[in-house]
Amino acid sequence: MTKKDCVLAIDQGTTSTRSIVFDRDANELAAARQEFPQHYPNAGWVEHCPEDIWTDVLNTARAALEQSGALDRIAGIGITNQRETIVVWERSTGKPIHRAIVWQDRRTAAVCQKLRDEGAETLVRERTGLLLDPYFSATKLAWLLDNVDGARARAEKGELAFGTIDSFILWRLTGGRVHATDATNASRTMLFDIHRQQWDQDLLTLFRVPAALLPEVKDSSTLYGETDPELFGRAIPIAGIAGDQQAAVVGQACFTPGMAKATYGTGCFLLLNTGDKPVESRNRMLTTVAYRLNGKPTYALEGSIFVAGAAIKWLRDGLHLITHASQTDDMATRVPHSHGVYMVPGFVGLGAPHWDPDARGLICGLTLDATAAHIARAALESVAYQTLDLVSAMVQDGGGTTESIRVDGGMSANDWYCQFLADMLQAKVERPRNVETTALGAGFLAGMATGVWENEETVAAEWARGSLFEPKMDSTQRRTMIAGWHQAVKRTLSTYT
Ligand code: G3P
Repeated sequence: MTKKDCVLAIDQGTTSTRSIVFDRDANELAAARQEFPQHYPNAGWVEHCPEDIWTDVLNTARAALEQSGALDRIAGIGITNQRETIVVWERSTGKPIHRAIVWQDRRTAAVCQKLRDEGAETLVRERTGLLLDPYFSATKLAWLLDNVDGARARAEKGELAFGTIDSFILWRLTGGRVHATDATNASRTMLFDIHRQQWDQDLLTLFRVPAALLPEVKDSSTLYGETDPELFGRAIPIAGIAGDQQAAVVGQACFTPGMAKATYGTGCFLLLNTGDKPVESRNRMLTTVAYRLNGKPTYALEGSIFVAGAAIKWLRDGLHLITHASQTDDMATRVPHSHGVYMVPGFVGLGAPHWDPDARGLICGLTLDATAAHIARAALESVAYQTLDLVSAMVQDGGGTTESIRVDGGMSANDWYCQFLADMLQAKVERPRNVETTALGAGFLAGMATGVWENEETVAAEWARGSLFEPKMDSTQRRTMIAGWHQAVKRTLSTYT
């Protein structure tokens, strides 16, 4: 029998789906990627077509398996996904009853405000570690049940299933046999008690969600089921699931309390491992499950920035300033400073630490000699400033040290950006050899449950540093730049008069 020493990771993100085959030394044997359409049916609304997602999962997984020639060596599949995005489908047919409502979607901002006014945030915070914000799944799910004909009645009768994207993919991969999720994804729904590790009846009542809709919550590294043999030519165990930011924690081997990683995708998410204790933030950071292994949750403090890579995408697709994201590296270096230009990318409101869904983006400080390069540089800088705001909040929360931070994801490939980040944070920025840490983390989770890797220690031994950036900016210059940023942010907030 062929040795099972590889894993297939499926990384279903906000704008694209990737499938990657890794071997036991964490080498990438093959990868396939597909971008998919975004739907913006109203201002502030963001939807995905679940069938697009499924087609891309299947096609990229098949392509990666074929290119790798390693189908028989696959021990297990790991799934990682954009979090909080919801799908509701019919149990009898597997057909979604509506497009997926995406984490960026702000349609339930008013509902959240009303619940906050009624004093519900304390309960939400205590049980889930989250804030009452439209970012999370619960109010999106209630919206869907109230706005799709007959959905609420059908949900109550047990005819429908709810899931975050991982759950939907798992259902489809197993031919409708398994309805489950992992603790990290559950922890983002605003319906899950992160302390007792179970769905919470009080929250289900608060958000009017029938329990019959919910998936079973399992460890992040465990046997979930097997793929329908017709999909890939043989049944493959699905053995790992984690939300993409949590998978990156695993991929970056941040297994020790005090270790932090920042992943730059559509948004940027900074997670700081706080060990077996959930740390409560006084600075509007989230408390979340980093991973759950052998029934034991490890917690993290999380700072969520909604727009990071999306700001660069906007320079390309909205402003047509660039044709490729990598040009920003060059443009930023071309000018000695941003010339007083700041961009605050509040395109979908602002996340941590402001949590202002009604904030909107802004570019300020323009003079006649400002150029495209200054705007591109301001966009990159805005992401580092936002990361700094998160790190500062976590330090104040007593979450841990800031001596170094591990970065990954698209923007981490930009050397200029990493150096600027090190300067702003006054900390070392470590970039791993493989920046696809989200997919790798999902692979590790699947591999730990199927004997490819033994445990966290064996996984940590695979982590290899690619580059190190150390702070070198003069502190007066740094302080002035940061003060300008905070002035600019103030002007974007909905409370600004
Ligand atoms: O919470 C949303 C997050 O999971 C999305 O990640 O990589 O698609 O920006 P990404």
